[in-house]
Amino acid sequence: MGRTVKSVGITGMGSHLPERILTNYDLESIVDTSDEWIRTRTGISERRISDADTATSDLATAAALKAMEDAGVTADDIDAIIVATATPDMAFPSTACIVQSNLGVKEAFAFDIEAACTGFIYGLSIGEKFISTGDAKTVLVIGAETLTKVCNWEDRNTCVLFGDGAGAAILREVESGWGILASLLGAEGWKGKFLTLPAGGSRMPATLETVKSGKHFIHMNGGEVYKFAVGIMPTATLKVMEKAGLTTGDIDFIVPHQANKRIVESAAKRLKIGSEKIFMNLNKYGNMSSASIPVALDEALEQGLIKKGDNVVLVGFGAGLTWGSCVIKWSR
Ligand code: ACO
Repeated sequence: MGRTVKSVGITGMGSHLPERILTNYDLESIVDTSDEWIRTRTGISERRISDADTATSDLATAAALKAMEDAGVTADDIDAIIVATATPDMAFPSTACIVQSNLGVKEAFAFDIEAACTGFIYGLSIGEKFISTGDAKTVLVIGAETLTKVCNWEDRNTCVLFGDGAGAAILREVESGWGILASLLGAEGWKGKFLTLPAGGSRMPATLETVKSGKHFIHMNGGEVYKFAVGIMPTATLKVMEKAGLTTGDIDFIVPHQANKRIVESAAKRLKIGSEKIFMNLNKYGNMSSASIPVALDEALEQGLIKKGDNVVLVGFGAGLTWGSCVIKWSR
């Protein structure tokens, strides 16, 4: 017997950010940088920093509770928990299992995915498949990060870019033809060397030497990542619209990964899309990797920028190197 494919949409959103703010001016006393350099090269003015006692799962749980309330679902309704993160609490158990325990979700499967900044889009696409095939009814997808814990605060090339936060979505079946119209995922693993956190895994287990030489921190070739990003953001947007049988003229709103204002502006220019249709909040939060898109989507909704029936594109790129996009016909 064949399965009926269901339409799947986001029926609730929530986000959570640590309270502590680190401004560009604060950074001026930590590394050799300036507010002017950071703002003009990236668009970032400040970012949120989690305290020593806060782990990724704490931010994820807080965001999840808000998304559940927004969707009107309880812990008993959740069939699957997917956490996208590059900064898990630990290697195992997964952050998703820790969140499951925090939320008191008894009957669900739970797992993490590692697609860095693209993780939330990977999570949405995977969650959608479980619901559309009938294997789950309610899926909780979270993007959560504490990147400031893996930043080298002596490296001005990277530490000015990142921030902490979490965003969560509840996925459920929606009316046919609404919700996620198409999604596209991709990776170019041969470019992985441009953005790494080299130590702490099986290739380079933790030793005093790996700690001393800063190998547990983010290492990035910013120029190469930038080149990849400005190419893939418009391409991924065009391709996902085409997959949905739409054109760029049908886009009502874009929520891009919030890494760098110049990357977003370059993509908008190539797509010939006005800035009023593109959401940016990276000035307040920096790059929160997998949390950037869900936090931005939650804020755009709160500000009333997305209406029922809008075609909303989510598009991102990240370590891997990975990329992903999806178009959602907003159903609430
Ligand atoms: N303050 C002052 N000067 C700085 C700083 C800083 N914070 N950082 C770098 N510089 C200097 C550099 O040392 C360099 O000096 P030099 O010419 O004397 O060597 C100069 O500024 C220019 O450096 P560039 O690398 O050319 O600067 P660029 O304009 O390319 O901007 C940036 C750098 C912002 C990192 C950009 O390349 C970028 O955004 N890349 C993409 C990064 C990204 O999006 N990563 C996302 C993935 S994260 C994830 O997946 C976890």
